[in-house]
Amino acid sequence: MVTVMDHSTVNKKLHQRNYEVDYSDTKTEDANILSKNDSTKYVLNYRIPLLKRDYIVTRSLGNGSFSKVKLLRSLTNHSRQFAVKIVNRSRAPRDFLTRFLPRELEFWPSLNHPNIIKFHETFEEMHLVYMVLEYASRGDLLAHIQKYGSLPEDRTKILTRQICQAIHYLHSQNITHRDLKLENLLLDDLGNIKITDFGFAKRNYVGELSRTFCGSKSYAAPEILLGKPYDPRKADTWAIGTILYIISTGKMPFDENKSIKSILEEQQKLDFPLYNYRKLSNDCKDLLKNLFTFEYTKRPTVLEALSCQWFK
Ligand SMILES: Nc1ncnc2c1ncn2[C@@H]1O[C@H](COP(=O)(O)OP(=O)(O)O)[C@@H](O)[C@H]1O
Ligand SMILES: [Mg+2]
Repeated sequence: MVTVMDHSTVNKKLHQRNYEVDYSDTKTEDANILSKNDSTKYVLNYRIPLLKRDYIVTRSLGNGSFSKVKLLRSLTNHSRQFAVKIVNRSRAPRDFLTRFLPRELEFWPSLNHPNIIKFHETFEEMHLVYMVLEYASRGDLLAHIQKYGSLPEDRTKILTRQICQAIHYLHSQNITHRDLKLENLLLDDLGNIKITDFGFAKRNYVGELSRTFCGSKSYAAPEILLGKPYDPRKADTWAIGTILYIISTGKMPFDENKSIKSILEEQQKLDFPLYNYRKLSNDCKDLLKNLFTFEYTKRPTVLEALSCQWFK
């Protein structure tokens, strides 16, 4: 088992995507603004277009695979804070630019749900794409669990219900997220869930299957590990199971260091000997096992999960 408290392993594991790109300019923090290296140009480049629109960059919030996320303060809009996700077109691979990024920019602005990060505006200058977003002040759930450990059951129930409600809303718009994981679940100042990162989102009609393997292996449903065409709605359901397991126990449900064959065996057995798991209520365990239904055609939809006993 990999513990969530182990920063380096977990970060490495959980940040795994289906491709890796050298995003080596991560040292361009604000303090380096005057340093004479290649990154100077980039730091200045991203600040000026923002300043032209009355935003000042106050600090860094995170780095994704092909993006940087910064905190902004609006100089005009009552000093309101926003986050900006900046994608550097010259550093991202072709399929990301032609398939994934256009979808993120298409779907996200139309989404309106209390548990989904609001998309404020977008613009592009030079090779940089800017997405100005609602800011979630308590950061992402991975950092939260790494800092405080697993959460009490009354709290996991609230968070899981909010995730299910947001994903049900998304699915009802015929959009699937396909990259649900702790790093993409943010917390606002009241501790409510705000789902972010629509980089792998896709329009899928009911029953339509996906073929592209997206997201993290640790959250991948068995049918994805098997390389089969998969129902992305049901893959989202499985990922919610993984999220619930991690926030409840502080551990990963399956040992992703093992071979695919062994992971699949674990996913079929669902034998979780951990004390942290055993102490969960039966209603919570029932939902977990239900979300982890191996055969995706039998796995509940998110709407079905919302009507489980645990949420009553
Ligand atoms: N709106 C936001 N408020 C606060 N932190 C954010 C926000 N958006 C992103 N972050 C931080 O930045 C990280 C990367 O953002 P994300 O949109 O997931 O990028 P990527 O698509 O590259 O994974 C997140 O995991 C989170 O820690
Ligand atoms: Mg992300």
